[in-house]
Amino acid sequence: MNFRPSPQQDHWRAVATAFARDEVMPRARQADADRVFPIDLVKRMGQLGLLAGPVDPRWGGSGMDHLSFAMVYEALGYADAAVRGFLSVHGGLVSQCIAEHGTEDQKSNWLPRLSTGEVIGCYCLTEPGAGSDAGAIVSEARAVDGGYVLSGDKVWITNGNIAHLALVFARDPAIAAPSDRLHRQICAFLVPTASAGFHRERMTDLELGHRAADHALIRFQDLRVPNDAMLGAAGEGFKIAMSALDHGRLGVAAGAVGLGQACLDQALDFAADRRAFGRNIGEFQMIQAALADMATDLEAARHLVQRAAWNKDQGLPSTRETSMAKLHATEAALRAADQAVLILGGRGYANAYPVERHWRDAKGLQIYEGTSHIQRIVVARETQRQRAAQRVAEDPTGR
Ligand code: CAA
Repeated sequence: MNFRPSPQQDHWRAVATAFARDEVMPRARQADADRVFPIDLVKRMGQLGLLAGPVDPRWGGSGMDHLSFAMVYEALGYADAAVRGFLSVHGGLVSQCIAEHGTEDQKSNWLPRLSTGEVIGCYCLTEPGAGSDAGAIVSEARAVDGGYVLSGDKVWITNGNIAHLALVFARDPAIAAPSDRLHRQICAFLVPTASAGFHRERMTDLELGHRAADHALIRFQDLRVPNDAMLGAAGEGFKIAMSALDHGRLGVAAGAVGLGQACLDQALDFAADRRAFGRNIGEFQMIQAALADMATDLEAARHLVQRAAWNKDQGLPSTRETSMAKLHATEAALRAADQAVLILGGRGYANAYPVERHWRDAKGLQIYEGTSHIQRIVVARETQRQRAAQRVAEDPTGR
């Protein structure tokens, strides 16, 4: 057990913290008000090596460990949830997924450009009729001579309007699958967004939070892709989607810790300066109790994030740990934002400080890349599975 960051982790945390403080934070409020994603920051993140995360340097990645990447997400989450959200999708859901499941050609074709920001990625899973129940998607991939024809609609696609590459999930109805395992018809495809039949439009004025993020409605209309656009094997798409979410959710969880920490720091500063009833409000026990709960909650969340990242670095299963981290960190972030707005009172509510934005953004963290309900399902199933395996190991006869 070693809680001291390695020199490599210190390095990436320092790079990301300076970038977030000097280049992301000063623009966050305006980007939120304008509802415009600060796209120039993408190339900058590429120059700093932040986009590539744990991708192997052979493919243009930074080769950082997952603990370092979690620190990068936390630093960005402290400054702006929309920029951090960009990275969870681009780096976590797309680049890491290609690195894990791609052929040599797919990796050499896409990863170096994703690592510099020349190519931006989006992840097309959610549909109007299939959000939490991702296995129920109805977008189709019909096999034709030499490839597939894609048709269907996707919603809430982060980076969808600015992306050059879409990781698309669609069902091939010709794949034979048991009626209760129809997710085994789902395939994954790497689709250039410049392809004929790729239509997208911006989702506007819908969002409570993440207003600077780019969200798209996407339609595939008889969009033709060659066979070698398929990521992984036919029918493996659902598992690929889930394994990608194991990466993306770590980004959401770590970003939530950053957001919560920003709320705590602002509440601490305000409590230290604001005077009421003849003293600084930080001297009142009710304020101190709130600050203590926020600090404890966030520290627990940070440890869960680090545990999930550490499992990934060790090559250990991390689905359960990642969902625990996502569940607890996003709920803790929302609690922290709620308390910060309360402690700052009128100033917090009136957006004189960023806690109002953080409160709106925190609600989104609880929902996307799998709601808190979904994370509980994942944690419960994995925990039950582990216990069942333990019981068999303890008594193989089952008595
Ligand atoms: N890694 C690899 N494989 C996995 C896996 C994982 N983490 N989790 C499940 N699988 C496999 C299972 O082993 C199973 O394999 P078999 O076919 O061999 O049996 C298969 O996937 C199906 O698993 P389940 O039976 O558990 O599937 P389910 O239908 O009960 O669903 C779920 C499970 C956890 C609820 C899943 O549907 C889920 O995570 N839903 C939430 C989806 C979500 O997060 N959506 C947001 C996407 S973000 C987006 O689209 C927009 C954007 O821009 C970010």
